[in-house]
Amino acid sequence: MFSKDGKTKDVATPRICDLVWHNGEFIKWDDARVHVMSHVLHYGSSIFEGIRCYSTKAGPAVFRLREHMQRFLNSAKIYRMDHPWTLDQLCEAAVDLVRRSEMEQCYIRPILFRSLDEAHPAFGVNPFPNPLACYIGAWDWGKYLGDEAIERGVDVCVSTWNRLTPNSMPAMAKSGANYMNSQLIKMEALLNGFAEGIALDDRGYVSEGSGENIFLVAGDVVLTPPLSSSILPGITRDSVIQICQELGITVKERTIQRAALYVADELFFSGTAAEITPIRSVDRITVGKGGRGEITAKIQKVFFEITKGERQAPGDWLTYVRRDERPTSDDGFTSRTLTSSGVENEQALSYQTAPME
Ligand SMILES: Cc1ncc(COP(=O)(O)O)c(C=O)c1O
Repeated sequence: MFSKDGKTKDVATPRICDLVWHNGEFIKWDDARVHVMSHVLHYGSSIFEGIRCYSTKAGPAVFRLREHMQRFLNSAKIYRMDHPWTLDQLCEAAVDLVRRSEMEQCYIRPILFRSLDEAHPAFGVNPFPNPLACYIGAWDWGKYLGDEAIERGVDVCVSTWNRLTPNSMPAMAKSGANYMNSQLIKMEALLNGFAEGIALDDRGYVSEGSGENIFLVAGDVVLTPPLSSSILPGITRDSVIQICQELGITVKERTIQRAALYVADELFFSGTAAEITPIRSVDRITVGKGGRGEITAKIQKVFFEITKGERQAPGDWLTYVRRDERPTSDDGFTSRTLTSSGVENEQALSYQTAPME
């Protein structure tokens, strides 16, 4: 699964969409390039998203598209990236890209970054003179933590690296620069034989994985760190919270001590790439019975039924890419509809950015 020489890809990528959306137009994958002196390459000035589009009986359906694009806009706002794109335009662009890609399932990657004005180059840290560029790419992406991980769980460690502090780099923003911290956590974990690392926040409480939020099951209660533990406000995390509420499982945001990980009955990661992945050991201490726990399995099952379009979600979570094939209310579903312009109708934004209590 992992090779340090980089020759082995750790996540299977069976297909890449040969089109990329760029500033409102579709260009060829091969033409989606930047100058090496672009601001983003030197100073990390990018924000991005990761969104999954699932294969369903009614064709490809993008999971929680609006919530992801809203977080994209929030990240841009935090970093004072003054761009012209609206929520509707970004959603429409992503749907259009998946439609053109003809892929049944994929991972969608919007990115906004500071590039280089070649006619009037600027090389300082000050980002303002550099033009913004917005792209959306897509590829078919396998199971992020390995094919077996979803069923059998993964072995992880607590990282020696802390997560970002709230007043150094905001974890709330999904910025490229934050992922230098994630890379330290991930590399350390891999080199020590673990699939993933869990970072603590600057106070020593559990924060999150390098690319996932974390949940802990204690008895019949599900706990997850609050936003104040320097976590990314994960869309999958929010989905898990809503699924628990629907299943009548008590779910709470709580600061979590490192030691609580070792004595938890169950642990699992949540994330767009990792989906819902059980954790079977932390620092070589077995979690619970050492596999996928019962409550994790229950939540995972509902999550996958929803993403496959086989079960009604607690909210309007799927955007069907092929308008003519989407399920109707006769099928017992409400699904997001697209107007003739391809723009979704008004949606309630259930995606949580504030702590639950
Ligand atoms: C650091 C980090 N935390 C949490 C998550 C999970 O967020 P989401 O469920 O929105 O993908 C991700 C994945 O994007 C991440 O990179």
